[in-house]
Amino acid sequence: MGNYKKLWFWLIGILIVTFSILGYFGADVYRNAPPIPAQVKVEATGEVLMTREDILQGQSAWQSTGGMQNGSIFGHGAYQAPDWTADWLHRELVTWMNLLSQERFGVSYEQANEEQKAILEAAAKKEYRTNTIDANEVVTISARRAQAMKMTGEYYKGLYGDEPSLNSTRESFAMKTNTLADPARRDKLVNFFFWSTWVAATERPGSDVTYTNNWPPESIIDNVPSAENVIWSIISVILLIAGVGLLVWGWAFLSNHAEDETQAPKMDPITTFKLTPSQKALGKYAFLTVALFGFQMLMGGAVAHYTVEGQTFYGIELSKWFPYSLLRTWHLQSAVLWIAAGFLTAGLFLAPIVNGGKDPKGQALGVNVLFLALLVVTVGAFVGNYLAIAGQMPAELNFMLGHQGYEYLDLGRVWQFALFLGIAFWLFLMARCLVGAFKQGGDKNLLALFTASVVAIGLFYGSGLFYGEHSNIAVMEYWRWWVVHLWVEGFFEVFATAALAFIFSSMGLVSLRMATTASLASACLFMLGGVPGTFHHLYFTGATTPVMAVGASFSALEVVPLVVLGYEAFENWSLRNRAPWMANLRWPLMFFVAVAFWNMLGAGVFGFMINTPVALFYLQGLNTTAVHAHAALFGVYGFLALGFVLLVLRYIRPTMQFSDGLMKASFWALNLGLLGMIATSLLPIGLYQFHESVSVGMWSARGEAFLQQDFLENLRWIRTISDVIFLVGGFGVALQVCKGVFLNRAPK
Ligand code: HEM
Ligand SMILES: [Fe+2]
Repeated sequence: MGNYKKLWFWLIGILIVTFSILGYFGADVYRNAPPIPAQVKVEATGEVLMTREDILQGQSAWQSTGGMQNGSIFGHGAYQAPDWTADWLHRELVTWMNLLSQERFGVSYEQANEEQKAILEAAAKKEYRTNTIDANEVVTISARRAQAMKMTGEYYKGLYGDEPSLNSTRESFAMKTNTLADPARRDKLVNFFFWSTWVAATERPGSDVTYTNNWPPESIIDNVPSAENVIWSIISVILLIAGVGLLVWGWAFLSNHAEDETQAPKMDPITTFKLTPSQKALGKYAFLTVALFGFQMLMGGAVAHYTVEGQTFYGIELSKWFPYSLLRTWHLQSAVLWIAAGFLTAGLFLAPIVNGGKDPKGQALGVNVLFLALLVVTVGAFVGNYLAIAGQMPAELNFMLGHQGYEYLDLGRVWQFALFLGIAFWLFLMARCLVGAFKQGGDKNLLALFTASVVAIGLFYGSGLFYGEHSNIAVMEYWRWWVVHLWVEGFFEVFATAALAFIFSSMGLVSLRMATTASLASACLFMLGGVPGTFHHLYFTGATTPVMAVGASFSALEVVPLVVLGYEAFENWSLRNRAPWMANLRWPLMFFVAVAFWNMLGAGVFGFMINTPVALFYLQGLNTTAVHAHAALFGVYGFLALGFVLLVLRYIRPTMQFSDGLMKASFWALNLGLLGMIATSLLPIGLYQFHESVSVGMWSARGEAFLQQDFLENLRWIRTISDVIFLVGGFGVALQVCKGVFLNRAPK
């Protein structure tokens, strides 16, 4: 540890404190998860409308349709069809008020005058916000609400089936006819949707906000941001400003400003190692990465097209076999897989280098076995998704083999477990080399940090196994974000920093001391905000107000290191002149500069845009989330994975030359395409929806009438231009990688 003792103590201290917070409030998520009632009964007659079992079976039915890949629940999921929670709630409320209005005033709610409307809305508010759950977990509702619920249910059954009068609505929502073909399962499905709105409209016992902290925005029942929501939003902005200020002070006063005097070596040190057999086996990994990337882009283009032509692809009736929900599932699953593949490639390439330039026994075999395993998991998971959405997967097998319905963890549980085993096997292959490295003397602090991030990435994928098919959504969300959030806003950030620092110091471009200090310090910052920041995904998913407060405060701190990344980008960029041989590495380096840029803009700025509770209250599930997701996930980890692959390729194919023209065009097309899809389409649509969500409500901002306006439809069309530019860039990189892999094989 030596000189770095202080930094290590800080890092370990931060991890202990932040994971204690995550665990402590995690227990709160379990304890206070919105109840799934044992029964829902009609007050006057005692008729049982549904039981807990019915709701849980509805959850399973929903999962089998692709769940979050078709509309959303609590704002989590896909953006074209409505948010079912907000949509059902609004429909049921209007139906309920119509019934009451006919009874009292003899006219429909629409025809009622202002005073009458006020009376109706006050009555609705009272009826819906009051919590009637008793000690036996039985919820009692009025006969009128039961009727409103049944009527809303009929509409939903028709929508998920083949009701002809809803053909054009299904097209607007990019839903295929018979999204859930079995009528018996549609009967169950509606119970689950009803439950999600009961949760969103009913006040938590002893509080004046609903189980979802008043989400979704719905004026009829006064679902507006709570006082705490507003207060913690303001606090989080102040924390961000304070954090940035303190960081600049700390950097100015505490850091050692001595210029890094490192003299770059005459020759690239990495090329002085002889390539090992396991490194030579990595060509196919590079290929797999860009092949899955290519597939992902094509799926993305098709999904975007479905937002303008809901069921057809330029006239071809594609949705019968490959509906929106399936292609969107594949779009996201392949993103996770190719980015992971890029990281695995980088890790496997570096492992023998840290081991002194040699393979442990059988390493190449291990690398090949892992490759086959990845292929099996990918194909298995994708076929499972297909069968689920085609309705051909037996209901009882769906969760295990078909579609979990949970965004980013869509693959069946068996495939998820197999992927976890695959990652564990990768860890094993890495560990064999790393152990060897630690046995040799010298300063191993940076290596230790790199190793820790690798282990954490591997192990944390496993937290996605901690919920089951029938887990309460609130609990499921907690674990799902342990994977997605802790990966992208925690361990991936540390891995990216440590891996690049490690690579640049191995090349002799920066001193090991500088690289180690900077990596440890940034790891502290990333973890401090990132770990409890997980709760920014749980503001409105059935967790309590303190969870929201913790999420808002810590996630604001996440942005602090991101907004100053320009400095790091400049330092990386300056490396290109450090040694003549760096000319060979110009393109990987450019990709790493792009990583820093998008980390600042996509993660920092667009992440914070939707991050305060009051902003997310209105924005959850609008196109603004897509803005952030594309700019951050591709912008940061996409560019990083591609940069890694290009770098590795450069070494495992020593005779290869990057085609400068091709790389330049591709690099800029990727950046401009990404910027274009955001600036000309996703962001304007999102901001327009934002206005609708604040002024009218979430149900409308995601509703058919609003989204099908010509103006918004045109904005979705306009996206095609940037999508094509992006595709050209992506396939350009893929072409370069394929040429490198297949045309530059080293002579035997
Ligand atoms: C490189 C880092 C990051 C990546 C790759 C990333 C990626 C993502 C993705 C994929 C989503 C989900 C989108 C969806 O549901 O369709 C998301 C949601 C979100 N992210 Fe990030 N993100 C990053 C950093 C940040 C940062 C720094 C913040 C703010 C501090 C942030 C705030 C949010 C919020 C508030 C949501 C929406 C919450 C929700 O719907 O649960 N993200 N992010
Ligand atoms: Fe997050």
